[in-house]
Amino acid sequence: MVEFHKNTDESLVPDYVLPDVLMTADGKKIENAFDWIQTRRPEILALYKKVMYGNLPPRAVKTEFETISCKEDALNNTAVRKEIQLTFSMADGKSHSFVMLLYIPKNLSAPAPVFIGLNFNGNQNCTSEDDVMMTGRLLNGGLVANERSNQVQRWQFEETIKRGYASATVCYHDIYPDDKDENSWRNSVYNLFFADESNEEFHSHGSAISAWAWGLSRMLDCLETEPMIDSSKAFVHGHSRLGKTSLWAGANDTRFKLVITNDSGCCGSAIARRDFGETVEIITHKFPHWFVSSFPKYSKREAELPFDQHFFVALTAPRYLAIASAELDSHADPKGEFLAGAHAGAVYKLFGIDTYTPDTPHPVDSYITGAVNYHVRSGGHDQNLADWTHYWDIAAKIK
Ligand code: GCU
Repeated sequence: MVEFHKNTDESLVPDYVLPDVLMTADGKKIENAFDWIQTRRPEILALYKKVMYGNLPPRAVKTEFETISCKEDALNNTAVRKEIQLTFSMADGKSHSFVMLLYIPKNLSAPAPVFIGLNFNGNQNCTSEDDVMMTGRLLNGGLVANERSNQVQRWQFEETIKRGYASATVCYHDIYPDDKDENSWRNSVYNLFFADESNEEFHSHGSAISAWAWGLSRMLDCLETEPMIDSSKAFVHGHSRLGKTSLWAGANDTRFKLVITNDSGCCGSAIARRDFGETVEIITHKFPHWFVSSFPKYSKREAELPFDQHFFVALTAPRYLAIASAELDSHADPKGEFLAGAHAGAVYKLFGIDTYTPDTPHPVDSYITGAVNYHVRSGGHDQNLADWTHYWDIAAKIK
């Protein structure tokens, strides 16, 4: 096995210079929110498509939402549980579908705001209920794991419902199997549109993370048709690779009013030029399918990237953003995640919003709140009750 360089000693982090998020490609300084929205934001979005994540899949010719189960007394009679199949089809008869698990609080006087996230291990592993459909197809058609309820703490459905929020999830493998086999995209939603392309052609413009981000938007399309959901309050969340994905979804789809990126690290919320934790070299060797095929050229050359990750998180501005780290998660570089949020503040400022700065104290297990939220939780790489407690509190402020 090849050993790649990876630094986890803070005293060995070399100096670096961050690019200016407000300086356009032709050297013009952005000074107001209008020019940010009109010029700079689209420029940065286009750069991320070209350099890192490629293009999201297009819209299918036909989209259908079919409720395949509805349980009126879910989670001890506190929620209505639905399983909805989303099917995307093309004129030539090809189709792709996946199943969304949705919990809606019962007995509310108004439609509920909704958390939307993808899961790693199938819908059956997010919930304590044992009668949820098994989802999570892998490349060879098999299921992720023949088990149930193994990530319940990551979802916290009971408490989410108690606080008056709905929660929806889909297994990410069902949108694009998370497999670096260069053919895996052929079992993804992209196959509807690009089946005639060679693997090489496809990987030059498509990526798993873009497919997953697309899936989050399609979940929201579906939720917009649910009468008991207030889709004007849609909060996208994701952990780790799915935290990179939630940022990318929020960047491409401004209907998400809160973007939560939990322990997203390299190519998520961590500053790339900081030589700490995972690097472009490591991530592109292990997970080439998350990126367009030209991205590995930045291995050991992070300083040449036309952006850094404070640009990425700033694509959420002026909406609410929550960045989370875990104290022991050195692979994801907690300090780099904190700093990206701090440096995104320059963009929020254009909207008259003050946010935290690189000097703001952020002791473990405390929460920095505002339009840009940050916390570093004690413990390791995960999304759990302490993280959710912060997310529910932020969501409660969104009117
Ligand atoms: C790996 C990968 C990370 C990623 C993580 C995850 O550790 O190197 O970039 O965030 O998997 O998704 O859990």
